[in-house]
Amino acid sequence: MRVAVLVSGHGSNLQALLDTVHGHEVEIVAVASDRADAGALERAAAARVPARVFPLGNYDDRAARDVAIAGWLSALGVELVVLAGYMALLTPSFVGRFPDRIVNVHPSLLPAFAGIRSIQQAIDAGVKVVGVTVHLVDEGVDTGAILLQRAIAMPDTRDAEVVHTALQPLEHELLPEGVRLLAAGRVQRDPDDPRRVVISP
Ligand code: GRF
Repeated sequence: MRVAVLVSGHGSNLQALLDTVHGHEVEIVAVASDRADAGALERAAAARVPARVFPLGNYDDRAARDVAIAGWLSALGVELVVLAGYMALLTPSFVGRFPDRIVNVHPSLLPAFAGIRSIQQAIDAGVKVVGVTVHLVDEGVDTGAILLQRAIAMPDTRDAEVVHTALQPLEHELLPEGVRLLAAGRVQRDPDDPRRVVISP
């Protein structure tokens, strides 16, 4: 399966994909970023994966930027789009071009703490467990069908960076696993409830 990865930051989740499923269950054929300074771009270069930057300032608006990204991915025959720390919102038209073929990793146990600063939201709420969710992307913000989740006890801290560091290993395991499931065709919409997916053996 030909995969594109969208990034905005360090790219540790991209690296996890490059170190696991790339060249095996899938081929990562493109990396796109909204930020020219994303460290993930160096990881793509090191892995000789074509990478492009789509800064919002180069386009009239987010929709035009998304059309440019979708056009590049389609030209490369991309079948699955992975959001690996991509911080820009995708427009419904972009989501519509890859139905049930966009997957995201989010550092909370959705539906709790959707959106940005999710770890700080969890700290502020005084929760006793935190975790990671891998889900399909729909038109909402972190509202798509959940594929995988993993939880850990909330570390004894109020420092969001400490919690984030504790969660990253879970992300680096769950996101590749979610990609494997999708590449193997093991993810189907639940016919009784389209908000859920069923993972076949
Ligand atoms: C990850 O922790 C992810 O949960 C969040 O952004 C971070 C990106 O990290 N959405 P990286 O760029 O993959 O290292």
